[in-house]
Amino acid sequence: MGFCPQCGNDGPLEQTAESKRKKAQQHTRIVSVTKAGGDTVVRRRVTIDEIDRVLGGGLVPGAAVLLGGEPGVGKSTLLLQVAGALAAGGGSALVASAEESLEQVGLRANRLGIDDPNVFLASERDIDAIITAAGEITPDLLIVDSIQAVTAAEVDGSPGGVAQVRESAARLVHFAKETGVPVVIIGHVTKDGGIAGPKLLEHAVDVVLYLEGEAERGLRLLRSLKNRFGATHQVGIFEMRDAGMTEVPDPSGLLLARWDGGVPGSVVFPAVDGRRPLLVEVQALVSGTATPQPRRSVRGLEAARVHQVLAVLERHAGFSFREKDVYVNVVGGMRLYDPGADLPVAIALVSSLLDKKLGPIAAWGEVGLTGEVRPVAHARRRVEEAARLGIGTIINPDDAVRIDKALARAGLA
Ligand code: TYD
Ligand code: MG
Repeated sequence: MGFCPQCGNDGPLEQTAESKRKKAQQHTRIVSVTKAGGDTVVRRRVTIDEIDRVLGGGLVPGAAVLLGGEPGVGKSTLLLQVAGALAAGGGSALVASAEESLEQVGLRANRLGIDDPNVFLASERDIDAIITAAGEITPDLLIVDSIQAVTAAEVDGSPGGVAQVRESAARLVHFAKETGVPVVIIGHVTKDGGIAGPKLLEHAVDVVLYLEGEAERGLRLLRSLKNRFGATHQVGIFEMRDAGMTEVPDPSGLLLARWDGGVPGSVVFPAVDGRRPLLVEVQALVSGTATPQPRRSVRGLEAARVHQVLAVLERHAGFSFREKDVYVNVVGGMRLYDPGADLPVAIALVSSLLDKKLGPIAAWGEVGLTGEVRPVAHARRRVEEAARLGIGTIINPDDAVRIDKALARAGLA
């Protein structure tokens, strides 16, 4: 045909796309499921247990890993320690910082006691320069800090913008797949999880990790949200100290060290995060409001769930929070996704409302809209963890109970 019958373009029609596709099909390799994966994957352990656990046993060759977290949470510190651990174990790592100078990274490494010659540092913003450098030394790990600060040549937009972030990450993922060098990409997220960054890249990488916790306070949780090489919802727990991120073998003990249950509005919640039980303190403060629109402030939990608990308490247990400011907080800066937090939140709220002490009790259960409290998974682990730390009183719904009954069991009739 001399023209395209659809768009009217009278340029010559080409067949290239069709023939290319045929060629690609001919090259597809088909293997039996018994010959793919499995023991062909050799993982390199970082030798920091909390990290290896979250990675599913170690770093996989060619893996592209995204580490997200708020600025200041400790991403650069943790990865510098990973580089140090790899080198100490006979490997090597290249830390390419687009945010800090060589002196800054070097000073931090000194402070962390990292002095292995096989930890290589570069201060560079250009993504292709980073990739070229990494290609020359082929380290056992390439760390890029951060994806918002690097620039990709020939791409429009400013660093940190959607186009730049996406293209820089694509080049890094390509480098990882081609050379087998695992790459960890740092990405900042803001408090509301927005801006171009981690969310944009989650589909492009193999593993997505998030580091969370309060910038000012101790505990840090490293979570895997996606892992093509292992189980997700694993958690590693660290404490930020002067000597960097330190593994926490007994987080419950640490969290409850100074807790005695002797104040109104405080309840222990044995959360199960990943596979690990973790005792956290849920606090509530209810006070008279000075504004027509009372405050509802929630930290560490889903605000919508707390609002729901407030509504259920009002409708099915007869406790009104109108004209009250309500603050709910998980101590330690952790963010909980466990639905079992509903009941401890309810008990803490009523305890604060009535200004009534509870003593050392632990509670869990999901509160439904009709006022029922439902059992949640891992009851045994929760009981054991509470018992281990000497909390005698446990309020958990073995069978569905009503919210008012559960409150009565806590002494809040
Ligand atoms: P950093 O790793 O720079 O955070 P991110 O890369 O996620 O932005 O660490 C931030 C904070 O950690 C910084 O404010 C200082 C503190 N810090 C320590 O408490 N101990 C240490 O050993 C180091 C290196 C940092
Ligand atoms: Mg940093």
